[in-house]
Amino acid sequence: MSEALANLLNETRQFPPPAELAANANVKADAYDEAAADRLAFWERQAGRLTWAKQWDQVLDWSNAPFAKWFVGGQLNVAYNCLDRHVEAGRGDKVAIHWEGEPGDTRTFTYADLHRLTCQAANALTDLGVTAGDRVAIYLPMIPEAAVAMLACARIGATHSVVFGGFSADALTNRIQDASAKVVITADGGFRRGKPSALKPTVDEAVAKCPSVEHVLVVRRTGEDVAWSEKDHWWHETVETASPEHTAQPFDAEHPLFILYTSGTTARPKGILHTTGGYLTQTSYTTHAVFDLKPETDVYWCTADIGWVTGHSYIVYGPLSNGATQVMYEGTPDTPHKGRLWEIVDRYKVTILYTAPTLIRTMMKWGEDIPAGYDLSSLRLLGSVGEPINPEAWIWYRQHIGRGELPVVDTWWQTETGAIMISPLPGVTEAKPGSAMTPLPGIVADVVDDQGASVPNGGGGYLVLKEPWPSMLRTVWGDDNRFLETYWSRFGAGANSGGDWVYFAGDGAKKDDDGHIWLLGRVDDVMLVSGHNISTTEVESALVSHPSVAEAAVVGATDPTTGQAIVAFAIPRGSAETGGEAGEQLIADLRNHVAKTLGPIAKPRQIMLVPELPKTRSGKIMRRLLRDVAEHRSLGDVTTLQDSSVMELISAGMGGGK
Ligand code: WT7
Repeated sequence: MSEALANLLNETRQFPPPAELAANANVKADAYDEAAADRLAFWERQAGRLTWAKQWDQVLDWSNAPFAKWFVGGQLNVAYNCLDRHVEAGRGDKVAIHWEGEPGDTRTFTYADLHRLTCQAANALTDLGVTAGDRVAIYLPMIPEAAVAMLACARIGATHSVVFGGFSADALTNRIQDASAKVVITADGGFRRGKPSALKPTVDEAVAKCPSVEHVLVVRRTGEDVAWSEKDHWWHETVETASPEHTAQPFDAEHPLFILYTSGTTARPKGILHTTGGYLTQTSYTTHAVFDLKPETDVYWCTADIGWVTGHSYIVYGPLSNGATQVMYEGTPDTPHKGRLWEIVDRYKVTILYTAPTLIRTMMKWGEDIPAGYDLSSLRLLGSVGEPINPEAWIWYRQHIGRGELPVVDTWWQTETGAIMISPLPGVTEAKPGSAMTPLPGIVADVVDDQGASVPNGGGGYLVLKEPWPSMLRTVWGDDNRFLETYWSRFGAGANSGGDWVYFAGDGAKKDDDGHIWLLGRVDDVMLVSGHNISTTEVESALVSHPSVAEAAVVGATDPTTGQAIVAFAIPRGSAETGGEAGEQLIADLRNHVAKTLGPIAKPRQIMLVPELPKTRSGKIMRRLLRDVAEHRSLGDVTTLQDSSVMELISAGMGGGK
């Protein structure tokens, strides 16, 4: 066990909720009892927070487990629930989004504005031939049109596939092809780090390889020149001139709402499929419960990008279905200065802030004097998501952003779970820094050993989910087998579960003496870099696609800021020059090659050119040893290596090759 982990598990501090918050909390302790007494009745009540066009006949159909159907027979429209019903209830003038561009330009959208633009976009998409069930790829910067594009798809029953704007042309191509998207919605570019950053050329490159794409809808954001083809349409000439009249049709509760790709243990990302009724029920309820969101008075801000599931569930669907007022920000936290986030909190009087540990650690590094320069007194609740938060960062967050008073909710969930699963309830839980604490009402999670048996308090093992939940993934797009293999075959419906299906999350976890859950990071070959899921295999195949690389191995090494950082070991091909300047150049080329192939977030922190990789006799690369090297530890057991001298060569080379 690493030292950091040992410290984590010795953490004993506990922070009760502020009395006033506890007294007025949306969700109180009785929710746990209610859900435990009758889980399906509990979720049925939460579904009732939404507006349905047709009531369901059955809460859960699990007869074809692990393929779930929730709210069977029910019908609703997601966009109606996020927009129309608020406007119809007389809240059309309420601000939905305070948007702030990176250069400092701002736009405000009321619910009526957002409704109008979404109706126009729905009409424009329909005019382009998009019908219910078609797939639409969305590749946009953090501009309000991103939310509008998603809602317009939902409104007409088209399934969106949002691709993070930082992904490369290859990554975009693969995702468009996998889903056979008919339309791509993009922009000329967005602003990042003080400069326009183009998106359209990447789309052009991808679309050239994607015959399924019939039309490309382009938002003008940066005003830079773009190449133009007959498939391209300007957003302002199509959407903004379309009729604002549009009646939302209800769709089946199990109608596909979106696909979102996430990294797995092979190089090919998985298209996680989410559907309509259960997804909206749980994202909406958890926004209400975990963030204690009061739509009349709160100003909510989630700093995630819409390209990740956090943006889907906690910028678009959760907050808007609750009628929240929120902030949306286009850019980076240090442009034009390191106080940018706090300036925004101060300007819009943000009350609820939801961000990631990597950002908190960056803020710690920059120093508490920076947030101290702003008025953060509007804040009343802080959230964290994406990776385990170390107690130091948790305490710093509470101390320097939360005045030493505010509750911090550390929320565990995944692209696959669709919504928050394990988290404190801010008005109930006495939170421990570094622990996600307990499953939310209606969720059954456990920590089990290798055999799938529940571990006692104090024990560690694998995190599993033991009962189906409304916002669970329904399958991997086009690949039911992969869905079964990845999530349901490890513990399946085995003897230790009494024959019930058990979902394997891929995370290591521990139960402390009070039974509270501590997440310990991934147990598979998925790295968490700044909270983003990147598979080791994905980076390895990008490296070996370079003509100078014969073989490569990639590990996630602990990094003080990004959580894990990508460290790669590459065996150059015979002819490649590896010494001195030529070696340095090759390393630089390889880092850029990975960034170009997968996107800048996958650029390795460090690449080492090595003559061999450590392998077992059966030929399996021993990543554990490479991690030891990357984290500057003395090597563990090397006796199973085919050739133990390999590690000496690699360790000797570790000094150079940065
Ligand atoms: C993986 C899922 C959930 C949205 C963002 C990431 C890790 C996420 C926590 C947390 C410890 C966490 C897990 C999980 N993770 N939140 N609060 N504590 N680990 O979604 O890209 O699907 O990644 O992120 O390892 O399996 P994702």
